[in-house]
Amino acid sequence: MFHKRIRIKDLLQSDNVNYQATVMGWVRTFRNNQFIALNDGSTNNNLQIVIALGSLDEQTLKRITTGACIKASGEIIPSLGKGQKIELNAINVEILGDSDAEKFPLQPKKHSLEFLREIAHLRFRTNTFGAVFRIRHSLAFAIHEFFNKKGFIYLHTPIITASDAEGAGEMFKVTTLPLDGTAPRNDDGSINFKEDFFGRSTNLTVSGQLEGELAAMAFSDIYTFGPTFRAENSNTTRHLAEFWMIEPEMAFYDLEDNMNLAEEFIKYIIRYAMDNNKEDLDFLTQRLEEEEKQKPQNERSEMSLLQKLEFVVNNDFEKITYTDAIEILKESSHNKKKKFQYIIDKWGIDLQSEHERYLVEKHFKKPVILTNYPKEIKAFYMRQNDDGKTVAAMDILAPGIGEIVGGSQREERLDKLTQRMEEMHIPTEELDWYLDTRRFGACPHAGFGLGFERIVQFVTGMGNIRDVIPFPRYPKSASF
Ligand code: 4AD
Ligand code: MG
Repeated sequence: MFHKRIRIKDLLQSDNVNYQATVMGWVRTFRNNQFIALNDGSTNNNLQIVIALGSLDEQTLKRITTGACIKASGEIIPSLGKGQKIELNAINVEILGDSDAEKFPLQPKKHSLEFLREIAHLRFRTNTFGAVFRIRHSLAFAIHEFFNKKGFIYLHTPIITASDAEGAGEMFKVTTLPLDGTAPRNDDGSINFKEDFFGRSTNLTVSGQLEGELAAMAFSDIYTFGPTFRAENSNTTRHLAEFWMIEPEMAFYDLEDNMNLAEEFIKYIIRYAMDNNKEDLDFLTQRLEEEEKQKPQNERSEMSLLQKLEFVVNNDFEKITYTDAIEILKESSHNKKKKFQYIIDKWGIDLQSEHERYLVEKHFKKPVILTNYPKEIKAFYMRQNDDGKTVAAMDILAPGIGEIVGGSQREERLDKLTQRMEEMHIPTEELDWYLDTRRFGACPHAGFGLGFERIVQFVTGMGNIRDVIPFPRYPKSASF
């Protein structure tokens, strides 16, 4: 049977020796015509395969090259060499897939992340990306486990929608109309979307929140976990045009409940990765330490990756209001010495990532939950506070990243909500279905969105968001 193989992770975890095993995987290196380092992706560790001298013909030996896929059978024995407890004494090696060593782009040496991004279809086969994507998997699993344990319903919200959930207008259009100028027109010259596939103008979703709110008004607690799309022209290390978001929405929650859930949630999934991805986190911690050595002393981080994660799961997040944050920033020597690109001079301005990072990394030195932002810089659905100026919003800021969560208590009062929508020029007719939740059995409720790639970045310590999603989409790039 072809499938009778043992995963390398299972082999290496066991102390058993002197039994027959078959392994399959990809050759990382082949030394002295005798030692193969084989990896099958179940772990970062390779299995050493020793080929008994004279047991393979010349032709087969030549085909064991870096990148080739092989099947090897033999006896598991205690290793004589250093660096591994066991090895496979191979009596049979079969080449499943050849790899031309001259042309295979991944040589057994260190490659830059930029280079690997250009060959994203092959980068899974490196130690760094092996570790990153195993951790990404674990975090995704932990997210479902966390909400399932709490009795939340996993809701699939649509990817194609006609609404703009954030009211920010940064959407990708979805249409089957021809782009060659022959699309049907209205009398005023505009495109007639009534003739389009859905009979109206549609786009890719920027958030599943609005649909999530509808379901929370029936199931009490729901969460979404799906792809979201933003056509913002942001070429940064923290923005993607296609990213995954987790959006829980809870009936009978106020802002305080919302913040507490978000904090518990983040700690839970980080802890899960620490418990289940120890080897990979050790590897990434070391990797980061090497990288840090290239930096000047004063730019190196005080904590290693693992210490940072340990610290985050064991300490309370700092909760402060936007108003207090502005005071801290305004009074900071950084601001006074004009070290910010955007000087903080008045209440009401939106915080830039340099300000968020100052609060988290320099001032509090821990994750910060900022609350009660000015209503002018936040979305229409956030609950208006009694002061008439602020809304019950909360953003969670993480060291090294900045914003990882955005959320709020929602405006459940129909009159206040429609009034705000009108002020912000959000068409109430198009969102009539959304307003129905406020007409029929409205209740206080709240929710938030966690950017999945941002938390993967935080846990893996990867500096660029393009390196924590298999095939990143960003301005001018949609390869693979
Ligand atoms: O703050 P945002 O825009 O909030 C919402 O979409 C709300 N509907 C969430 C809710 O209350 N249910 O986005 C939420 C999070 C951000 O904090 C950030 O982590 C991530 O999504 N995010 C991005 N991640 C990668 N690339 C982008 N372009 C992102 N934009 C937002
Ligand atoms: Mg936000």
